[in-house]
Amino acid sequence: MIDMPTSKDVLIAPSLLSADFAFLGDEVRKLKDAGADWLHFDVMDGRFVPNLSVGVPVLKSLRRVTDLPIDVHLMIVEPDSLLGAFAKAGADTLTVQAEACTHLHRTLQNIHNLGCRAGVSLNPHTPVDCLAYVMELVDFVLVMTVNPGFGGQSYIDACTGKIAEIRRRWPDVCIEVDGGIKADTVGKASCAGANVFVSGSGVFSQPDYGAAVKELRQLALRARAQ
Ligand code: DX5
Ligand code: ZN
Repeated sequence: MIDMPTSKDVLIAPSLLSADFAFLGDEVRKLKDAGADWLHFDVMDGRFVPNLSVGVPVLKSLRRVTDLPIDVHLMIVEPDSLLGAFAKAGADTLTVQAEACTHLHRTLQNIHNLGCRAGVSLNPHTPVDCLAYVMELVDFVLVMTVNPGFGGQSYIDACTGKIAEIRRRWPDVCIEVDGGIKADTVGKASCAGANVFVSGSGVFSQPDYGAAVKELRQLALRARAQ
């Protein structure tokens, strides 16, 4: 099981959704050289979100070519039936959407039993209260700062307050943020309390992934110091 970062650590997790899928292995190697901390792997089912992406076979292939932690974000309905397959294929983290889990407590127990770290993701409209009685099973919270389903959308400013609320209520929890994170938004998410930063188009639209990862990390750290 991977070590979880503390709330003091800053991690950059490029989202492979924006990678060139014809050269996925090469993209992953470039991200390792670029200093990425986690690889964010977005799974979409065309039901929870209006889009399809990749699943278990692609994860299995990627697992063979990288030792970076693979952070699997399940934007799917009824995730329980697939948790075992993703764990077996090499997921280090499994994040479920709170809105997709009728029995969230049990789902988080299942993730732990599979030897993975458990994340709970909240859509932009979802209040933080649903975390209150499961927090002992949560390794990290994923705050969606766009409506999930597509890369390249704009950061929703109302979500910054939600990050701050989670940080206030659970000072030590790891908070990942996902959606519209790039050079002009990473600072406000960091200032509010996020410490793991997913970025798809913010990294892959840049010619030099190393420079992009470095810039995001520096801006996140600088915002926090202010
Ligand atoms: C959106 C996905 C994100 C997406 C982020 O539904 O969960 O991980 O790839 O892409 P950007 O950083 O371009 O908003
Ligand atoms: Zn994601």
